Amino acid sequence: MTSPRSHFPSVARALLLAGLLIGAAPPEVAAQAERGRAPQADPKARLAQMQADPKALQAALRQGSRVAAVCANCHGEGGVSAKPEVPNLAGQNPVYLLEQMRQFAEGQRRNEFMEAMIKAMNSDERASAVLFYAAQTVPPRPATDAAQAARGGDLYARNCFRCHGAEGHGNAEIARLAGQQGVYVVDTLKRYRTGTGPRVNPLMADATRLLSDADIAALAAFAGTLR
Ligand code: HEC
Ligand code: HEC
Repeated sequence: MTSPRSHFPSVARALLLAGLLIGAAPPEVAAQAERGRAPQADPKARLAQMQADPKALQAALRQGSRVAAVCANCHGEGGVSAKPEVPNLAGQNPVYLLEQMRQFAEGQRRNEFMEAMIKAMNSDERASAVLFYAAQTVPPRPATDAAQAARGGDLYARNCFRCHGAEGHGNAEIARLAGQQGVYVVDTLKRYRTGTGPRVNPLMADATRLLSDADIAALAAFAGTLR
């Protein structure tokens, strides 16, 4: 029997690194921790292999739940976040999640903590984590202001529906929005609208360019109600 710790050495390293970043360690210490970074096979190829083989899939789901324990403080048990500014990962498309991990790891999507965390994960940890999260369910969030959510529904039908789908479930390229955390959706849409900064995407820049802050709040309220 190996110790449980040996199942996810690079995630343990991620925690160490994250601790170092949070504790504002001297740069040379953080750099040293970063040198231990995980080697990478192609995570998308590993994901496809895990999905193709039922036994590998079961093993991956078990590994994924161990990795997810490291993320639960922020993303919640089973990927349903209890913090409105932290996204749910539950029910999200696994290929979309892997792509976001790639963007963090390559510094294309900026968030200091997530960049450090993902860089320290190897391909199997990434692929198994997204498989685990995709298999979890996310509950809808009832709207606190029904009129606002209804207005968001009209905007959604005109501007978002054709890509994100009637139910907001997305696909491999496009994020699931159903049940997503409100503050996170608002922050994210404002970033896309600016077209510069921590998260840039040309399709989403086009989709948000003409939205007011009130439109964005209404869309976030509506997205939360989708199941
Ligand atoms: C300290 C809190 C924290 C921890 C721990 C954490 N995350 Fe995150 N994560 C965030 C925040 C905040 C964001 C949103 C960043 C942004 O606004 O772009 C995020 C975003 C993400 C996203 C993008 C989701 C999307 O909808 O685009 C993925 C994927 C992700 N995290 C995976 C993980 C994994 C896997 C772990 C554990 C190995 C983890 N996170 C641990 C805070 C955390
Ligand atoms: C032309 C297709 C398209 C349209 C139209 C579109 N989206 Fe998107 N959306 C995308 C793609 C692609 C992504 C992933 C982009 C990335 O990697 O950052 C995305 C990502 C998002 C995200 C990030 C989700 C997360 O988990 O981080 C939100 C929120 C979002 N869209 C909301 C909307 C809303 C609201 C509208 C309508 C106003 C809309 N989108 C219209 C294609 C589209």
